[in-house]
Amino acid sequence: MEQDKFRLYPIKKFNLTKEQIANNYEEYDLEETKQKLLKENKGYNQRISSDGIYTFFVDCDGYNDAITKVIKLLIKYLDEKYDISISKKDVSYTKNKGKEGSYHIAIPCIYGKCKKIKEIVEKELKECSGHNIDHIMRVFNMAVHLAKGENVDLEVIKISTLLHDIGGKKEMDDPTGKTDHAIESAKMARPILEKLGFSADKIDHICDCIISHRYKNEHEPKTLEAKILFDADKLDAAGAIGLARGFAWIGKNGAHIYKKADNLDDYIKENLGGKINGRIQDKTKHSAHI
Ligand SMILES: [Fe+2]
Repeated sequence: MEQDKFRLYPIKKFNLTKEQIANNYEEYDLEETKQKLLKENKGYNQRISSDGIYTFFVDCDGYNDAITKVIKLLIKYLDEKYDISISKKDVSYTKNKGKEGSYHIAIPCIYGKCKKIKEIVEKELKECSGHNIDHIMRVFNMAVHLAKGENVDLEVIKISTLLHDIGGKKEMDDPTGKTDHAIESAKMARPILEKLGFSADKIDHICDCIISHRYKNEHEPKTLEAKILFDADKLDAAGAIGLARGFAWIGKNGAHIYKKADNLDDYIKENLGGKINGRIQDKTKHSAHI
């Protein structure tokens, strides 16, 4: 018996006629269909799940009120039901000119991906003090703020910001001070991004931003996206928040608030690998003022 085929209708643009839509499908067997729906982002209608990746479409017909009211409801619904925060400008819609009251509304799947990544990162960093999820979200908001008005790939900024410290625990747990969390974070980010269906180019760009966000390694931020992540991260080490994070780090690692080294050159050689901005080897010997 011939195996059943299932039809998927990828939506590439919204101004297609009914006939064009009806003939614009791809056929797969059940297993392939499941894989396509799970892994590909071709605009198939996908179900929302609170921990899944989604592209959300609304088809609105025979509607005679302002479309902004529907959008408002949608924003509230996603926030209350799925803890997905979006703003009006994230929602795009087209009006069907040939049919009164007919709209198509779409929200890109990046919001689902951000949410999934945030959950993974939060779990990974729950034991970290200064590099916990609160730091990640402050840097995220700052990076989005810095990116305003700039010609940048906002998706790269958002995703690299969320993942930039995911390897923080590995550095924290290494008493030798040889582990670089920026490099570890990029290593850990890659398979996550592959699983979430990002393109190879996008993954390379995101990983490059992550590797170059740390001023203590030799990788300098080159793209505007990498520079924005770098600046946003450093701004979170300034001011009152920076001081609070410093104390949290001191408490967590048994370091000193203020302790003068007898000889700074010797200290740099012994505990910082010979460079003033080198990696700290024994945190209990370190002092915040150095
Ligand atoms: Fe950071």
